[in-house]
Amino acid sequence: MRAYYYKEDGSDMCSPHDSGLSVSEQDLSRVGVLYYQIDVDYGLDRIDEICEERNYKSRDIVRINREEMQELDAKLDIFFSEHFHEDEEIRLILDGCGYFDLRSSADKWIRILVQKGDLLILPAGIYHRFTTTEDKRIVAMRLFKENPKWIAINRSENPVHNQFRNDYVGQYLS
Ligand code: LAC
Ligand code: NI
Repeated sequence: MRAYYYKEDGSDMCSPHDSGLSVSEQDLSRVGVLYYQIDVDYGLDRIDEICEERNYKSRDIVRINREEMQELDAKLDIFFSEHFHEDEEIRLILDGCGYFDLRSSADKWIRILVQKGDLLILPAGIYHRFTTTEDKRIVAMRLFKENPKWIAINRSENPVHNQFRNDYVGQYLS
Protein backbone atom coordinates (compact mmCIF):
# COMPACT_ATOMS: atom_id res chain seq x y z
CA MET A 1 0.00 0.00 0.00
CA ARG A 2 1.19 3.48 -0.74
CA ALA A 3 -0.93 6.56 -0.42
CA TYR A 4 -0.24 9.98 -1.89
CA TYR A 5 -1.99 13.07 -3.14
CA TYR A 6 -3.23 12.65 -6.66
CA LYS A 7 -1.73 14.88 -9.29
CA GLU A 8 -4.09 16.08 -12.03
CA ASP A 9 -1.72 15.77 -14.99
CA GLY A 10 -4.15 14.99 -17.77
CA SER A 11 -2.90 11.41 -18.16
CA ASP A 12 -5.07 8.29 -18.25
CA MET A 13 -6.84 7.32 -15.01
CA CYS A 14 -4.76 4.12 -14.85
CA SER A 15 -1.43 5.96 -14.81
CA PRO A 16 0.03 6.76 -11.38
CA HIS A 17 -0.82 10.48 -11.03
CA ASP A 18 1.83 10.60 -8.33
CA SER A 19 2.40 14.05 -6.83
CA GLY A 20 5.20 12.71 -4.62
CA LEU A 21 3.31 13.98 -1.55
CA SER A 22 2.80 10.96 0.70
CA VAL A 23 -0.20 10.33 2.90
CA SER A 24 0.35 8.23 6.04
CA GLU A 25 -1.80 5.48 7.48
CA GLN A 26 -2.60 7.84 10.32
CA ASP A 27 -3.82 10.48 7.86
CA LEU A 28 -6.04 7.82 6.28
CA SER A 29 -7.46 6.85 9.64
CA ARG A 30 -8.46 10.48 10.21
CA VAL A 31 -10.90 10.24 7.31
CA GLY A 32 -12.07 6.85 8.58
CA VAL A 33 -10.06 4.62 6.23
CA LEU A 34 -8.49 1.50 7.74
CA TYR A 35 -5.67 -0.57 6.35
CA TYR A 36 -4.39 -4.03 7.24
CA GLN A 37 -1.71 -6.13 5.66
CA ILE A 38 -2.58 -9.80 5.33
CA ASP A 39 -0.30 -12.65 4.37
CA VAL A 40 -2.67 -14.17 1.83
CA ASP A 41 -0.25 -16.96 0.95
CA TYR A 42 -0.60 -18.38 4.45
CA GLY A 43 -4.32 -18.99 4.38
CA LEU A 44 -7.11 -16.68 5.25
CA ASP A 45 -7.22 -17.15 9.03
CA ARG A 46 -6.55 -13.48 9.67
CA ILE A 47 -9.40 -12.60 7.32
CA ASP A 48 -11.70 -14.98 9.16
CA GLU A 49 -10.75 -13.24 12.40
CA ILE A 50 -11.39 -9.77 10.98
CA CYS A 51 -14.73 -10.97 9.62
CA GLU A 52 -15.63 -12.27 13.04
CA GLU A 53 -14.52 -9.08 14.83
CA ARG A 54 -16.27 -6.73 12.43
CA ASN A 55 -19.27 -8.92 11.72
CA TYR A 56 -18.71 -9.46 8.01
CA LYS A 57 -20.85 -12.38 7.02
CA SER A 58 -20.31 -12.78 3.32
CA ARG A 59 -17.64 -12.44 0.68
CA ASP A 60 -17.07 -12.88 -3.01
CA ILE A 61 -14.18 -12.55 -5.43
CA VAL A 62 -13.97 -10.19 -8.37
CA ARG A 63 -11.52 -10.79 -11.18
CA ILE A 64 -10.88 -7.76 -13.33
CA ASN A 65 -9.00 -8.43 -16.55
CA ARG A 66 -9.72 -8.25 -20.24
CA GLU A 67 -10.14 -12.02 -20.70
CA GLU A 68 -12.61 -12.61 -17.89
CA MET A 69 -14.55 -9.39 -17.67
CA GLN A 70 -16.92 -8.33 -20.39
CA GLU A 71 -16.75 -4.67 -21.37
CA LEU A 72 -13.80 -4.06 -19.09
CA ASP A 73 -13.31 -0.43 -20.11
CA ALA A 74 -16.97 0.44 -19.58
CA LYS A 75 -16.88 -1.22 -16.15
CA LEU A 76 -13.75 0.67 -15.18
CA ASP A 77 -15.42 3.93 -16.19
CA ILE A 78 -18.28 3.13 -13.82
CA PHE A 79 -15.87 2.27 -11.00
CA PHE A 80 -14.06 5.56 -11.63
CA SER A 81 -17.19 7.67 -11.19
CA GLU A 82 -16.98 9.37 -7.83
CA HIS A 83 -19.46 7.73 -5.46
CA PHE A 84 -20.18 6.60 -1.93
CA HIS A 85 -21.97 3.62 -0.43
CA GLU A 86 -24.29 3.20 2.50
CA ASP A 87 -22.05 0.35 3.73
CA GLU A 88 -18.34 0.00 4.27
CA GLU A 89 -16.37 -0.94 1.16
CA ILE A 90 -13.99 -3.73 2.15
CA ARG A 91 -11.48 -5.09 -0.33
CA LEU A 92 -8.66 -7.59 0.12
CA ILE A 93 -6.34 -7.68 -2.85
CA LEU A 94 -5.39 -11.23 -3.82
CA ASP A 95 -3.43 -10.48 -6.98
CA GLY A 96 -2.56 -7.57 -9.26
CA CYS A 97 -2.70 -3.89 -8.36
CA GLY A 98 -5.22 -1.11 -8.30
CA TYR A 99 -5.90 2.42 -7.18
CA PHE A 100 -8.53 3.59 -4.73
CA ASP A 101 -8.93 7.36 -4.81
CA LEU A 102 -10.69 8.97 -1.91
CA ARG A 103 -11.43 12.50 -0.82
CA SER A 104 -9.31 14.16 1.83
CA SER A 105 -10.97 16.36 4.42
CA ALA A 106 -10.15 19.30 2.12
CA ASP A 107 -11.88 17.47 -0.76
CA LYS A 108 -8.62 16.70 -2.58
CA TRP A 109 -8.01 13.28 -4.10
CA ILE A 110 -5.78 10.89 -2.19
CA ARG A 111 -4.67 7.91 -4.28
CA ILE A 112 -4.00 4.56 -2.61
CA LEU A 113 -2.01 2.02 -4.57
CA VAL A 114 -3.02 -1.44 -3.38
CA GLN A 115 -1.45 -4.79 -4.13
CA LYS A 116 -1.57 -8.39 -2.99
CA GLY A 117 -2.23 -8.71 0.72
CA ASP A 118 -3.65 -5.22 1.21
CA LEU A 119 -6.98 -5.00 2.97
CA LEU A 120 -8.65 -1.63 2.74
CA ILE A 121 -11.81 -0.59 4.55
CA LEU A 122 -13.55 2.55 3.37
CA PRO A 123 -16.25 3.84 5.69
CA ALA A 124 -19.84 4.25 4.57
CA GLY A 125 -20.41 7.71 3.14
CA ILE A 126 -16.86 8.52 1.95
CA TYR A 127 -16.57 9.74 -1.64
CA HIS A 128 -14.20 7.54 -3.62
CA ARG A 129 -13.51 5.86 -6.96
CA PHE A 130 -11.43 2.93 -8.19
CA THR A 131 -9.33 1.91 -11.12
CA THR A 132 -6.61 -0.61 -11.93
CA THR A 133 -3.00 0.13 -12.76
CA GLU A 134 -2.08 0.21 -16.45
CA ASP A 135 -2.04 -3.57 -16.88
CA LYS A 136 -5.73 -3.67 -15.96
CA ARG A 137 -5.51 -6.86 -13.91
CA ILE A 138 -6.59 -7.30 -10.33
CA VAL A 139 -8.23 -9.99 -8.21
CA ALA A 140 -9.94 -8.83 -5.04
CA MET A 141 -12.08 -10.32 -2.32
CA ARG A 142 -15.08 -8.18 -1.41
CA LEU A 143 -16.37 -8.54 2.12
CA PHE A 144 -19.86 -7.59 3.20
CA LYS A 145 -21.76 -7.32 6.43
CA GLU A 146 -24.79 -9.03 4.97
CA ASN A 147 -25.43 -10.28 1.47
CA PRO A 148 -23.32 -8.98 -1.38
CA LYS A 149 -24.79 -5.67 -2.36
CA TRP A 150 -23.30 -2.98 -4.50
CA ILE A 151 -25.14 0.28 -4.72
CA ALA A 152 -23.17 3.37 -5.63
CA ILE A 153 -24.47 6.86 -5.07
CA ASN A 154 -22.75 9.12 -7.59
CA ARG A 155 -21.61 12.58 -6.68
CA SER A 156 -22.55 13.79 -10.16
CA GLU A 157 -26.15 13.21 -9.19
CA ASN A 158 -25.67 15.68 -6.38
CA PRO A 159 -27.20 13.59 -3.60
CA VAL A 160 -28.37 15.56 -0.58
CA HIS A 161 -29.95 14.50 2.66
CA ASN A 162 -28.44 11.04 2.64
CA GLN A 163 -28.25 9.86 6.23
CA PHE A 164 -25.13 7.74 5.65
CA ARG A 165 -23.28 10.62 4.00
CA ASN A 166 -24.41 13.01 6.73
CA ASP A 167 -23.25 10.59 9.41
CA TYR A 168 -19.84 10.31 7.73
CA VAL A 169 -19.48 14.09 7.45
CA GLY A 170 -20.54 14.44 11.09
CA GLN A 171 -18.06 11.85 12.30
CA TYR A 172 -14.99 12.63 10.18
CA LEU A 173 -15.26 16.00 8.47
CA SER A 174 -16.75 18.31 11.07
C1 LAC B 1 -16.51 -0.30 -5.60
C2 LAC B 1 -15.32 0.46 -6.02
C3 LAC B 1 -15.39 0.63 -7.48
O1 LAC B 1 -17.44 0.32 -5.16
O2 LAC B 1 -15.29 1.65 -5.35
O3 LAC B 1 -16.47 -1.52 -5.76
NI1 NI C 1 -17.18 2.01 -4.18
